[in-house]
Amino acid sequence: MAGSTDALGARTLAACALLWLQPGAAQPPISPQDTALLAGNCVTCHGPGGQPPAGADTSIPGLRGQSSAALLERMQAFQAGRVAGATVMPLLMQGYDVAQMQALARWFAKPPAERP
Ligand code: HEC
Repeated sequence: MAGSTDALGARTLAACALLWLQPGAAQPPISPQDTALLAGNCVTCHGPGGQPPAGADTSIPGLRGQSSAALLERMQAFQAGRVAGATVMPLLMQGYDVAQMQALARWFAKPPAERP
């Protein structure tokens, strides 16, 4: 089955090339420990489980239950100033690069019990 192995190799190579072309992907991947530290900057408002604590300001949306793609899209929209009416997030997202936002999006998309 050399043919299918070659096809797989070509697909892997293409996938790698795509990843490499994305801004931020040249950096080493962000470890679960580092992601946990980054996420520590979010839980004061969004809650440790991605759900604001009871009694918190209701203008803070919950992150739990959203897909990582949706979370990433929102973060990038904040960073680019594309979210009308946003308050703190556009400023906050200036401090994060794409790799960090991807790691955070994956982190909050997972239920707390499944996080490393
Ligand atoms: C000071 C409080 C605060 C902190 C800290 C904070 N957020 Fe937010 N977040 C908000 C508020 C308020 C909104 C609503 C949009 C706005 O007003 O900017 C929001 C919105 C969001 C949204 C959009 C969710 C939706 O359903 O629309 C995402 C995603 C998000 N925050 C991710 C993060 C991440 C990741 C971090 C940590 C790096 C973080 N936030 C830290 C207050 C905060």
